Amino acid sequence: MKFVRSVILSILFTLASASFKDSAQLKITSAKSSPRWAECGKSCVGRMQLVDVTLNNTGTSVWITSDDSLQVRIESDKLHTIQPATVKRLRPGDSAIVEIGVQNTAGVAQGSTGPATAVAQWSNNNASVALTFNATYGLPSYSPNPESVNAHESPDWFKGAKYGIFIHWGVYSVPAYGNTGKNESYAEWYWDHQINPEDPTMTYQYHLEKYGADVVYDDFIANFTVSNWDPKEWVDLINDAGARYFVPTTKHHEGFALFDMPSNVSERNSIKQVPHRDLIKELFDAAKKYQPQLHRGTYFSLPEWFNPAYSKYANGQFGVGPPRNPYTNKTVPYTGFVEVDDFLTDIQLPQMNILAYDYDTDIMWCDIGGPSLSDDFAASWLNHALQQNRQVTFNDRCGSVNGVAINGDYATPEYASTTSLSPQHWEACRGMDPFSFGYNYMTPDSDYLNASSIVTTLVDIISKNGNLLLDIGPKADGTIASIMQTNLRAAGEWIRAHGESIFDTKYWPNGPGSGNFRYTTTNDAFYIHYLVKPGDSLTVPDAVPYLPGDKVTVVGGSENGVVVDSRLVGQNLVLSIPEDISSADNYTWTFKISY
Ligand SMILES: *[C@@H]1O[C@H](CO)[C@@H](O)[C@H](O)[C@H]1NC(C)=O
Ligand SMILES: *[C@@H]1O[C@H](CO)[C@@H](O)[C@H](O)[C@H]1NC(C)=O
Ligand SMILES: *[C@@H]1O[C@H](CO)[C@@H](O)[C@H](O)[C@H]1NC(C)=O
Ligand SMILES: *[C@@H]1O[C@H](CO)[C@@H](O)[C@H](O)[C@H]1NC(C)=O
Ligand SMILES: *[C@@H]1O[C@H](CO)[C@@H](O)[C@H](O)[C@H]1NC(C)=O
Ligand SMILES: *[C@@H]1O[C@H](CO)[C@@H](O)[C@H](O)[C@H]1NC(C)=O
Ligand SMILES: *[C@@H]1O[C@H](CO)[C@@H](O)[C@H](O)[C@H]1NC(C)=O
Ligand SMILES: *[C@@H]1O[C@H](CO)[C@@H](O)[C@H](O)[C@H]1NC(C)=O
Ligand SMILES: *[C@@H]1O[C@H](CO)[C@@H](O)[C@H](O)[C@H]1NC(C)=O
Repeated sequence: MKFVRSVILSILFTLASASFKDSAQLKITSAKSSPRWAECGKSCVGRMQLVDVTLNNTGTSVWITSDDSLQVRIESDKLHTIQPATVKRLRPGDSAIVEIGVQNTAGVAQGSTGPATAVAQWSNNNASVALTFNATYGLPSYSPNPESVNAHESPDWFKGAKYGIFIHWGVYSVPAYGNTGKNESYAEWYWDHQINPEDPTMTYQYHLEKYGADVVYDDFIANFTVSNWDPKEWVDLINDAGARYFVPTTKHHEGFALFDMPSNVSERNSIKQVPHRDLIKELFDAAKKYQPQLHRGTYFSLPEWFNPAYSKYANGQFGVGPPRNPYTNKTVPYTGFVEVDDFLTDIQLPQMNILAYDYDTDIMWCDIGGPSLSDDFAASWLNHALQQNRQVTFNDRCGSVNGVAINGDYATPEYASTTSLSPQHWEACRGMDPFSFGYNYMTPDSDYLNASSIVTTLVDIISKNGNLLLDIGPKADGTIASIMQTNLRAAGEWIRAHGESIFDTKYWPNGPGSGNFRYTTTNDAFYIHYLVKPGDSLTVPDAVPYLPGDKVTVVGGSENGVVVDSRLVGQNLVLSIPEDISSADNYTWTFKISY
């Protein structure tokens, strides 16, 4: 019965599409050279620049299908198209963003500009549209000014990675206190909370009672022993979690660095002080050895609270050094401080350069921003990375230069309760803790993000063109609370089993999905995610690119690959979900339309 119906529908469709074959109305709505590139592989020598082209099927009835052999290329006497893009499915009203690989023709300077034309051809070359645009031929080299480094973009590996683990670990992990419930706030802000008797975390009062008025923040350094730390356990956990990158705090606002540097920069670090170890090097070495596929990033706070050399930049708002005992108001030492001429030239920029060149960071995850020399930093680093054939990235918190913002590659909403689709790639960050990045001993296990919430949060974010950077707060001894490990691993099992619908996918330009539906796409398939356990049928509310006759299959869970019955009811795709399929997965249910 079903078989007969789908055959009839598909015959009707074939007739309909044949009779309108020449009337698919495509438009190229934008074409833009990017500073991103891909390895040539077998197609060319070296690397190819990527050009982004957006196509829209502006018609009302005729679909593009794989039978149309839709191909997009770039035409210019200054560029060769090495890798054209193909589009296998585009329903009326839908759009697709494709990447075309190009190289300059002989003698054309990298970074020079001029016209190029994006051309889409289909119906076996019988139909075409074109758009001429102002192109940049090849990859620019960067100059130390905001305009130049602001042209950089998130590389494709980063956009495709989707999920990273953030790690907040430092001297604040010793008190590990941020209060609880509505009074909770970031435990890594302990020092700043402590100086304000009115702070809702009541850190001022807590500290007085627990440690007494004579114990100051820097006394916690002696207890940052990392005595039970095994960096291999961390990188294995990150891999088990299903993440593709990680970003540890290399220096938070307290100014205590976990990496090495010359003594004339600072001695406020884990090498000169307890625990006398280069924690970032040990962690990165473990990652290189045991989980080399993980990209390694570095969180770095541009300002430092209470650093006497930062005071002139603090603007009265971000800590003013030197530090004082909050109970006696007496000035106390800023441990490891070395006199410098200028915070930016002698501390901030040298430290960023060390992370870039000595630690080979892939991601410079700046925090707070403020006065900086980040144009200088980024231009040299981006040029250096290109020479090494690497694509690196930096976020939107790398500050400003003489008041001009360094935009960074991506926005970083933090503990955002709502997010929305943005064509510009972005990254959400939050802790597994309800409101702390650093470990907060007061948080009950039941309040940590569970596997279900991790998965639904991730799927929601990637459907909107974002990445999720999910934070864990290890303890001062280097161990990670078992509740965080358990929940990360449970989510990781799901993420790895559904990897084809997560990693290296793209958002759907028509929207992330209504209600509990979320969508991701690839060149070969459309993925429908449902964020709660489905009932016996699912009516997809959005005009997804489903054609009668398409095969819809389950992705992940114990029924992975099983075909589900699918049909159109009016304009809506309806999936039949028997109990053996709805009980075959957890957290989020994923279905695939293959083109
Ligand atoms: C494609 O074009 C149609 C008609 O111009 C428009 O309504 C629609 O919003 C466009 N789609 C996208 C995803 O931009
Ligand atoms: C394309 O055009 C050629 C002749 O110009 C014709 O023979 C062929 O059938 C057309 N193909 C399609 C798919 O319309
Ligand atoms: C290209 O740039 C020139 C000069 O800025 C401008 O006049 C022209 O309109 C641009 N062309 C396109 C297709 O954007
Ligand atoms: C927050 O702290 C106040 C005291 O400042 C206390 O009265 C209140 O009960 C606390 N609220 C929660 C939810 O813990
Ligand atoms: C350091 O650790 C010792 C031993 O656990 C403890 O008694 C002391 O209160 C801690 N001091 C600080 C400042 O953390
Ligand atoms: C700090 O020492 C290094 C050598 O370790 C030297 O190259 C650099 O110029 C010194 N910086 C300053 C500000 O003196
Ligand atoms: C602490 O001392 C400084 C310097 O004398 C003064 O400006 C400030 O008001 C004092 N703060 C408190 C809370 O007494
Ligand atoms: C996971 O957490 C969410 C949000 O707090 C909650 O609604 C859900 O019941 C939890 N799931 C499990 C299995 O505990
Ligand atoms: C769902 O999660 C539960 C608890 O972790 C597990 O026992 C069960 O095997 C999972 N079911 C599937 C189909 O993955």
